[in-house]
Amino acid sequence: MPLYCHFKPLFKSLSLLFIILLSACNSVNKSSGESLRLIPMPNSVTTRSGSLDVSKGFRLVVEELPSDMAFRLTDWLNGNPLVISDEGQPLRLHLSNEGNHIDNGSNESYTLTVNRKGVDISSPSEVGLFYALQSLLQLSRSGDRIPCVEINDQPRFAYRGLHIDVSRHFFSIDFLKKQIDAMAHYKLNMFHWHLTDAAGWRLQVDRYPELTGTAAWRPQASWKEWWASDRAYVTEGTPGAYGGYYTKEEVAELIRYAAERHVTIIPEIEMPGHSEEVLAVYPNLSCSGKPYTAGEFCIGNEETFEFLENVLDEVIELFPSKYIHVGGDEASKEHWKRCPKCQARIKGEGLKDEAGLQSYLIRRIEQYLYSKGRELIGWDEILEGGLDNSAVVMAWRGEGIGIEAARQGYRVIMTPGEYAYFDKYQGMPDKQPEAIGGFLPIEMVYSYNPVPDSFSPEEAARVWGVQANLWAEYIETEAHMEYMIWPRLLAMAEVAWTAPERKSWENFRQRVNREIPILQERGYNPYTLSEEPFISLSRDTVNSATAVTFTTERYPVEIRYTTDGSEPGMGSELYTAPIRVTDSTVVSARLFQADKPLGDVVSQRVDYHRAIGKEVLYNTPFSRYYPAGGAEALVDGLPGGQAHGDGRWQGFLVPELDVVVDMGKAVDISKLQVRFLHNANAWIWLPKTVTFSLSEDNEAYRSLVTLTHEVEEDGSGTLFQTFGWSGEAMGRFIRVQAPAIRERDAWLFMDEIVVW
Ligand code: ACM
Ligand code: ZN
Repeated sequence: MPLYCHFKPLFKSLSLLFIILLSACNSVNKSSGESLRLIPMPNSVTTRSGSLDVSKGFRLVVEELPSDMAFRLTDWLNGNPLVISDEGQPLRLHLSNEGNHIDNGSNESYTLTVNRKGVDISSPSEVGLFYALQSLLQLSRSGDRIPCVEINDQPRFAYRGLHIDVSRHFFSIDFLKKQIDAMAHYKLNMFHWHLTDAAGWRLQVDRYPELTGTAAWRPQASWKEWWASDRAYVTEGTPGAYGGYYTKEEVAELIRYAAERHVTIIPEIEMPGHSEEVLAVYPNLSCSGKPYTAGEFCIGNEETFEFLENVLDEVIELFPSKYIHVGGDEASKEHWKRCPKCQARIKGEGLKDEAGLQSYLIRRIEQYLYSKGRELIGWDEILEGGLDNSAVVMAWRGEGIGIEAARQGYRVIMTPGEYAYFDKYQGMPDKQPEAIGGFLPIEMVYSYNPVPDSFSPEEAARVWGVQANLWAEYIETEAHMEYMIWPRLLAMAEVAWTAPERKSWENFRQRVNREIPILQERGYNPYTLSEEPFISLSRDTVNSATAVTFTTERYPVEIRYTTDGSEPGMGSELYTAPIRVTDSTVVSARLFQADKPLGDVVSQRVDYHRAIGKEVLYNTPFSRYYPAGGAEALVDGLPGGQAHGDGRWQGFLVPELDVVVDMGKAVDISKLQVRFLHNANAWIWLPKTVTFSLSEDNEAYRSLVTLTHEVEEDGSGTLFQTFGWSGEAMGRFIRVQAPAIRERDAWLFMDEIVVW
């Protein structure tokens, strides 16, 4: 099914006609390419004044190409909106090793020149010509004239990926083709297909029919409901069964389709964990020998290796990819500890422990793949217990793990949760469909640089590339999946392709806002970006103030704001630079587009209060997991946001929180205030009470007030509770005591101690 639904009739001609001079191109200008609506931004753009009239489309000139290559490229063009006509401008495609074909080893560079003779495209490879055509498609969609320009381009990384989980919810081949179409258009080239997991096995394997006959089906359509139930599987054809799998014919068709678009499909077969569905139907492969007892294969049992090798044989036969992903993540070691066969394997092989056992499996499977001419990729847990340098590490548990692996000599694909987990919220949770949690707005994706400045050239070369991961626990429909992918994948495409010095968020923001309607026209369902501005606060120590910054993902829009609690309107102040707050106020902001308000007003209380910068004495320590910036966090004037993990909330895992602010000398005090967060799902509760007391010497304290609240212990969602006192008092040391609802395992999260 074609990606682009709106294309004009095509007329092809391979003959070279004489060249018509329609427009002059002159006056060279090495440019950032800002006016060009290209995603990803090419790595070198020289614009010239003038433009080429392409109202009659293009006349293909491909006689210097090998005929099969010419056929493939013209065949691909046939399904795309570039108008090919006998009267059009010459569009010359040829192979060349000349010019600025710098490369990262993947041979994907191209040169695209638009001048008064027409358009000239050259590359050392077919894929380079293909990518040049993507750039030309983007240049030519803005009207009848395209600007005169010379583009010399090549990707920063050879691996530019998208991962989709089809186990937790099932996605059709047509849907995957549609995503691959758009991936290729934005020059992404690796589709990582998460084919197996507890929620359903999705690949036909002839030798093990139960994998698709039962392990691919479950009673509940929603993963959440299935997970909350007894996590059963049912046989195919059971009334109401949800699931599915891909036949070998379907897989072969998708591989062919992707290859035509220069996208490689990397299959993932999970082992040794995330395999509940396999062990439910082949229970002999689990440590207990019983179904529904474990998610991990028994590594002590030779039958496990027989099974995995047989499955991999069929995978290898089907998938031409040199790399096979074998999962390796999140395997529990509990069953192996109690299993005589696993323990015998540890002893027999001289392994150190259960981590060594997992590593034994990964090494053995790697050797098996290698014997078949293939190589292994695994999630970063494959590093635990030892790994050979030949395996590729897909780093997901944080940027640091990938950096460390590259330093140790491993080839890595960077997919860290902080930047690459597209199952997180991309806007304020109250305005989004339910997601797994966390917050990953598009600007955060865009900001990612997978190669730290501190890397040596050798270390940098080990970073093969980047990938966005779409886990589907909370994504039940294709429309929702597209909403989570787009437009964040455009940001990842630019991270993967464009050199860091060529990137600019401000410029990308403009381009991505123009790209969203194009995706919509083509039948995609992108998130259209936040209709509310984001507010961020920082401390301006020079001016003794809190600096308030408003930002927006939208373009073009205006941000208007107030600082007196009133609702911002068209007549309110236009935001142009951070505003400084030196006292206590509420700032409110709203977006306006074409003089009309967009979305809701957002407000934030800002207190540049008297305890800012003072010393905090911790009678009970904050948790090292939630330091919120450390010892200054409670007096930095920066309130916490919606999420307890946003780095502004300080977490305490103590029976009673007990902290003191030292004002330096005795001062008059008129108001005290603290705020706590409640989220029972995350084991965070409000304190039972909050007591404020004062002292001159940090020894003899007199209590000012003890405050309570009425929030239910199991109240759902995230709530915030302010505890405040006002009156007249004097003191140097201000103490806050707040007992947790339980002695153990009850978190307390506080963001600020406000003193007036
Ligand atoms: C993963 O997210 N478990 C790789
Ligand atoms: Zn075992």
